[in-house]
Amino acid sequence: MSAQLINGKELASEKRESMKKEVEMLKEQGVQPGLAVILVGQDPASETYVRSKHRACENTGIHSVSIKLPDTVSEEELLGHIDKLNEDDAIDGILVQLPLPKHINEDAVIERISPKKDVDGFHPISVGKMMIGQETFLPCTPHGVLEMVRKTGIEVSGKHVVVIGRSNIVGKPVGQLFLNENATVTYCHSRTQNMQKHTKDADILIVAVGIPNFVKAQDVKEGAVVIDVGINRVDGKLCGDVDFEEVKEVAGAITPVPGGVGPMTITMLLENTIQSAKARVR
Ligand code: GUN
Repeated sequence: MSAQLINGKELASEKRESMKKEVEMLKEQGVQPGLAVILVGQDPASETYVRSKHRACENTGIHSVSIKLPDTVSEEELLGHIDKLNEDDAIDGILVQLPLPKHINEDAVIERISPKKDVDGFHPISVGKMMIGQETFLPCTPHGVLEMVRKTGIEVSGKHVVVIGRSNIVGKPVGQLFLNENATVTYCHSRTQNMQKHTKDADILIVAVGIPNFVKAQDVKEGAVVIDVGINRVDGKLCGDVDFEEVKEVAGAITPVPGGVGPMTITMLLENTIQSAKARVR
């Protein structure tokens, strides 16, 4: 293997150690950060993510509340829960696990969360502030990706960042964050023609398409930093959107799956919750 391994698990655990201390200091000032997670239905992947979020809160000293609702819940009732959490002084962050059942309007749910508690960074006000470079809650996965690239020590300014994928959760915001860092950003997606022409020119390649082993060695420039956001299950085994075995021979640095972006996403969620709680300290 020629590529440097970007160990998300290790970086996440370093960050969580310093967060524990921050939480301790806040508690001494009478404030315990609190996160509420709402899960609708019984999607096994979502249940796993939500469990990991609670465990991470527990380990960091953050108070966490879980609200589990059946997939038959009405939009009204879900919005009612958000209203209560918006008013709850012990709660600094509210996260509604996506996707939601089809009969619920996801946009309406996201917009109901107070921007002051929008630790996912999905509210249009948070997205707009990020876009114009104002301080706000940054979306967790994109922020985790940026932190991991920083960890490699390579300068982002002026580099060509290519993002494969254009979802509202990862693709679009991750490109924006790197643009804010003065990178030159290209977005590739399902309609892109001759995608390899773009990916082969990337200094930093960020892959968030949700297709197992989509990026091959021939798509990557020698020495590029490759960040794999994908989490796919193939024959019961987790794999990313990047063919790790092939690409690690070409890339300069690469994230593994699991143990790459995943642990960093949760860490950035904890960081946003702590940041939100600081507003309560007088
Ligand atoms: N579903 C997949 N990723 C995420 C995320 O980062 N936040 C929420 N709320 N739902 C998700």
